[in-house]
Amino acid sequence: MNSIIDAPLTAEQKARITRPTSEARGLPNLAYIDPVFMKRERETLFAQTWACIGFVSDLKPGGYAKPVDLLDVPLLITRDRSDVVRVFHNVCSHRGHKLVDAPCPAGGMLSCPYHAWSYGLDGALETTPHIGGPGVHELSGFDPSGHGLKAVRSEVWMGMVFVNLSADAPSFETHIQPLADRWEAFHGAFGPYDLRPAATGGDLQIEIKANWKLAVENYCEAYHLPQIHVALNQYSRLEDHYHIMIGENFAGQGTTVYNLSGTAGIHLPRFEEWPEDRLQYAEYVSVYPNLLLGLQADHLFAMILHPIAPDRTIEDLRIFYVGDEAIGDEYAHAREATRESWRVVFAEDVGVVEGMQQGRSSPGFDGGIFSQVMDTPTHHFHRWAAGKLAG
Ligand code: FES
Ligand SMILES: [Fe+2]
Repeated sequence: MNSIIDAPLTAEQKARITRPTSEARGLPNLAYIDPVFMKRERETLFAQTWACIGFVSDLKPGGYAKPVDLLDVPLLITRDRSDVVRVFHNVCSHRGHKLVDAPCPAGGMLSCPYHAWSYGLDGALETTPHIGGPGVHELSGFDPSGHGLKAVRSEVWMGMVFVNLSADAPSFETHIQPLADRWEAFHGAFGPYDLRPAATGGDLQIEIKANWKLAVENYCEAYHLPQIHVALNQYSRLEDHYHIMIGENFAGQGTTVYNLSGTAGIHLPRFEEWPEDRLQYAEYVSVYPNLLLGLQADHLFAMILHPIAPDRTIEDLRIFYVGDEAIGDEYAHAREATRESWRVVFAEDVGVVEGMQQGRSSPGFDGGIFSQVMDTPTHHFHRWAAGKLAG
């Protein structure tokens, strides 16, 4: 184990990981079990790129605020009455009390629980009660306009909220373009898309006792299908899958035989532009660092990985359906069936991801190896991580 004072990985470790797949080794155990390593991941793997922190549909209209911690950094997502979504550091400018500790409707102001300074949903500091003494709410020489909430660079894409903590990553558009270009072939331009969050049959939360990276790694590959997803493998077999690696930030796998929803003869509405001859194509892509996407002709799901501890991650899944009709009562049954099918698949993955976590405490394991045939997307993720972790 190397010191992690300078960079979490040494140049030598990086070299081992970034060799050709057939000769490479994986990230060291420390990367999965050490709390200090995890803190450094915040700076190296999350802050300098675009991390996904939440869903717009969780923010109710009419003014709403939702706190989210990103590897212990308290953030606050707000949606104002005009539906403008913003992200701030969730900390009061006065003495640094955490401003909001639970999701709440916020038609007007956000008031600090300590000395009651209050902020608008645009982050402006609006009131500073008794700052100049009892009953005196202004202070000579103090300009509230310089002490609003600190904004975090953020973007909303397909109903998801992304942040770039370092504020100097390439634009989100540049970041996501390679994936957007690829998926344009399936459902047209990623501009005015038809995706809708559903009130029922649209969400799932799973807590796993494993490092967030293991969830990404498992998601990148189809190799485990015959052994772990026995029912799924009956119709979507290993040989029906292909690898996906796009640029530096995306890897995963796809299938040519996805079984579209059709519960009781009810088929969910599909993307209009989806090619007829590829209706059973589906693609599963990890958007580094912490978002797992699954695109089918009749829905898209998005799973945000919230790292809580080196060995604990919360997976928050939303399923987006196609157009207004798809989220109505008529399709409630089909949506529930869709969610249930994914619930089963993700539940099957929990055991193997947790099993890999347990293996990371073994001195008998040192990064492991990759099959240059079956594990190339997983290795793609390791390369990405090693490049950033080694500085
Ligand atoms: S710390 Fe928030 S008002 Fe004092
Ligand atoms: Fe799986």
